[in-house]
Amino acid sequence: MDDVTKAARYREVRAALAELLHDEDDFIAAQATVACELHHAFDHFDWTGFYRARGDDLLVIGPYQGTHGCLRIPFSRGVCGAAARTKQTQLVPDVTQFEGHIACSSSTQSEIVVPVIAESGRVLAVLDIDSNALTAFSEVDRVELEAICAELARRFPLG
Ligand code: SME
Repeated sequence: MDDVTKAARYREVRAALAELLHDEDDFIAAQATVACELHHAFDHFDWTGFYRARGDDLLVIGPYQGTHGCLRIPFSRGVCGAAARTKQTQLVPDVTQFEGHIACSSSTQSEIVVPVIAESGRVLAVLDIDSNALTAFSEVDRVELEAICAELARRFPLG
C-alpha cells in the first residue's frame, strides 16, 4: 500500500477511534478497540496487539488480533523488549536482520513496535504490529501509530 493511501486509511481509523473511545475510561477496552480497528483496516497487518508492562522489566500479552502471541517478553528481549527498554519506536523492515527478534510466528517478515509512554515517563504498554510482507511499514506508520499511542497515554496516564 502506498503512503498516500495509507495516510488516508489512518485518518479514517483515527476518526473511528475518536468516536468509539470518546467516553471510554477502561484502558484494556481501549486497547482492544485500537487493535481491532487497526487490524481490520490494513490487509498487511497480520498480528496487531498490545503487550502490557508489568513492573519495570516484563511485558505481558494484552488485547490482540491474529494468531497466538508469546505470552511474556522481558524488556531485555526481542523487538517489543527493545521498544519498552529504549522508549523508542522500533521499525524493523526485515526481522531476520534484528538480532534477538522473537519469532512468535514463522511467517512474520517485518514489524513495528511503538511504546505507550505516560507523561511520567513510565512505559504502560507497547503496540506491536507484525506483517507477513517484507518492509510493510514506513514513516507514515511510525507517525500515525505514535499519535495513536500518545493519545492512549494521554487518556490513560495510569494505564
Ligand atoms: N516479534 C516480537 C514478539 C511478539 S510477537 O511477534 C506477537 C518481538 O521480537 O518482540
